[in-house]
Amino acid sequence: MATTDAPVFSDPRYRADPYGVLAEVRRERPAYLTRLPSGEQVFLVTRFADVEAGLKDARLVKNITNARERRPGMLARLGFLKNFGNTNMLRADPPEHTRLRALAHQAFTPRLVNQMHDHIQTLADQLIDAVEPAGRMDLIADFALPLPITVICELLGVPRQDEQKFRRWSGALIESGALSSESVPLVPQLLLMVRYVRRLVRRRRAHPASGEDLVGQLLAAREGGQQLSERELLSTIILLLIAGHETTVNLIGNGTLALLLNPDQLQRLRQDPTLVKPAVEELLRYVNPAQLVNRYAREDLDIGGVPIRRGSHLLLILAAANHDPDFLERPDQLDVSRTVRQHVAFGQGIHYCLGAPLARLEGEIAFATLLRRLPNVRLGVPVEELEWRSGIELRGLRSLPVVF
Ligand code: HEM
Repeated sequence: MATTDAPVFSDPRYRADPYGVLAEVRRERPAYLTRLPSGEQVFLVTRFADVEAGLKDARLVKNITNARERRPGMLARLGFLKNFGNTNMLRADPPEHTRLRALAHQAFTPRLVNQMHDHIQTLADQLIDAVEPAGRMDLIADFALPLPITVICELLGVPRQDEQKFRRWSGALIESGALSSESVPLVPQLLLMVRYVRRLVRRRRAHPASGEDLVGQLLAAREGGQQLSERELLSTIILLLIAGHETTVNLIGNGTLALLLNPDQLQRLRQDPTLVKPAVEELLRYVNPAQLVNRYAREDLDIGGVPIRRGSHLLLILAAANHDPDFLERPDQLDVSRTVRQHVAFGQGIHYCLGAPLARLEGEIAFATLLRRLPNVRLGVPVEELEWRSGIELRGLRSLPVVF
């Protein structure tokens, strides 16, 4: 096994300040060989130009079986779950990816998202109504989390009373490192989620609702055009349910913290609410709700002169790229009025975030509502007391107490 560079993710400074640690890695070498918490070797790609190119490079694939001869042994034992993750677009490569994404794209239309505007606004106001009298809240549990989770659950027909159950499974899956490891780990929560979604689809088939609804559209695409298999359908719904809230909660939570720690920027946004659109782009770039994405080298290649062998596992670190001084000036400063050139917080290329329009809409409504409704909002605890969730893919706070 090749000698690796210094540990990154287990560096004690990493959780509190990934950007400082990643800046050192970015200066050191374009592709930095280190280990995941699981012990697996990975190359970290941190410079903006390399990350942007990597996201568009067809030699870097998502499905490990397209890069290595042998599947990880564990997957072979999983029955229905065997290779389950690879049956959704996020872990698939063309041509499967093209087909899976096109189907989901047909169902997840911009029209559907636009129709949600007023409803998302109502939900945001209701959440604030509920906490306003107390003058304090946990911004994560009371606002940043329920908003996107309710929206995506409603879109997919998950009843309100099941949201919390769903939330627990999803959280456990994310913190297990499922997103960056070679195989989808056999966590019981995944089995529970599959069973739940299977029932959801069965119910939906038995009672086809009228009008445009996401599961109905996915089903129609499958039944009308022989396209989505049962496994693909379940896997796609689970992907949408997880991706639909695990990242947006971090945009709202980390974004609010960033504004509270930069009162001049908060003030600026308050004075000119029309800045909310550029502010959401800047916050996405600055806080990186999804910190990194996974790829495997399908053939030998090199990144900035570092040779990468076929089968190697790479992490394209979006967070490091978006803070690269060669990408933009003063990258570590939050500036809500700057026009950010295309950042990589939603990725790029064929896997560019399918939910980006929804995430942007939710972000804009969330920040505008917080500023309008809570004019004196401030941190409720010293910043050193805030805790970050475990897992390296997504960066999010466990809680964010605020007073107003
Ligand atoms: C702030 C919120 C969000 C961020 C930062 C984010 C980030 C990302 C990123 C970086 C990717 C690319 C992954 C890669 O290249 O490997 C991605 C893909 C994806 N996202 Fe999002 N996302 C967000 C919200 C959402 C929402 C709300 C949904 C759905 C409702 C969603 C659904 C998806 C899907 C389905 C993919 C896979 C696309 C493909 O593989 O072709 N995301 N997202």
